[in-house]
Amino acid sequence: MGRQVIQCTGIYFSPTGTTRRIVRSISQGLSMRPKEFDLTLPAGREKNFILEKDELLLLASPVYGGRLPTIVKDAFGRLTAGRRPVAPIVVFGNRAYEDALLELYDLCVSKGYDVVGAGAFVGEHSYSHVMGRNRPDPADDEKARCFGLALRQTLLGDASLDDRRLLIKGHRPYRKYMTKPPFVPTTTRKCANCLFCVKNCPVGAFQDGDPRKINEDKCILCAACIKLCPEGAKTIGDDDFLDDLAIMAAGNLDRKEPDTFLP
Ligand SMILES: Cc1cc2nc3c(=O)[nH]c(=O)nc-3n(C[C@H](O)[C@H](O)[C@H](O)COP(=O)(O)O)c2cc1C
Repeated sequence: MGRQVIQCTGIYFSPTGTTRRIVRSISQGLSMRPKEFDLTLPAGREKNFILEKDELLLLASPVYGGRLPTIVKDAFGRLTAGRRPVAPIVVFGNRAYEDALLELYDLCVSKGYDVVGAGAFVGEHSYSHVMGRNRPDPADDEKARCFGLALRQTLLGDASLDDRRLLIKGHRPYRKYMTKPPFVPTTTRKCANCLFCVKNCPVGAFQDGDPRKINEDKCILCAACIKLCPEGAKTIGDDDFLDDLAIMAAGNLDRKEPDTFLP
């Protein structure tokens, strides 16, 4: 007999919104009652996770430097261990996901979870408008829904997942964390002082509620303030700096497709 799983809970960190969208598309394919814990803002990370024993968890994160962001690792680390169905998911900016999905999978296994499937999906790169431009797009949403449906079928299936390990792409030991670049976003004259960036910074890096004062020690360069500013008033370097870099690196503009792993 398959499991009686009727609810799925997406737990995600998503400064520029692509990870959130993938989680929602997967949830649609699952056709289960969806619940969410959005860990993007500090208040979301302070909440306790209240979870039913048998609900399916979708643990989802963007890829930073081919790894899981530390902030995500710390937040997911607070989940209680024990048997429960889980699907680790990462979203990358059309460069590569390298060891991030394996790292998230290992975290799930170390907690004793039953991994029912894993996936790496593509979102527009946080720093660029050319890498993964406008993704996830409708084709990505469809693939995410199909993945959700496949997870549902695995859950309803008869087979036990006990002895099955998924062969996730990546390497152990994981690649080194990238070194933090010596700059933070700058504010241009377009800034209308609406404070949207201040209210939506995932790490509360704006000092004294001032959109022009960013604490370099706190900023994780997640690009939320750059991508979400209604006036387009935040930038890193000059406007084309990172797009130029992306274009120079071979393969960064070739369309990458999602990778999914199922038992
Ligand atoms: C600090 C940082 C590092 C990143 N490193 C990678 C990377 O190694 N490979 C990649 O393909 N995308 C990388 N990205 C892009 C994000 O993984 C991608 O844009 C993702 O869709 C962002 O998710 P979000 O919209 O939920 O914030 C990076 C983004 C940031 C902010």
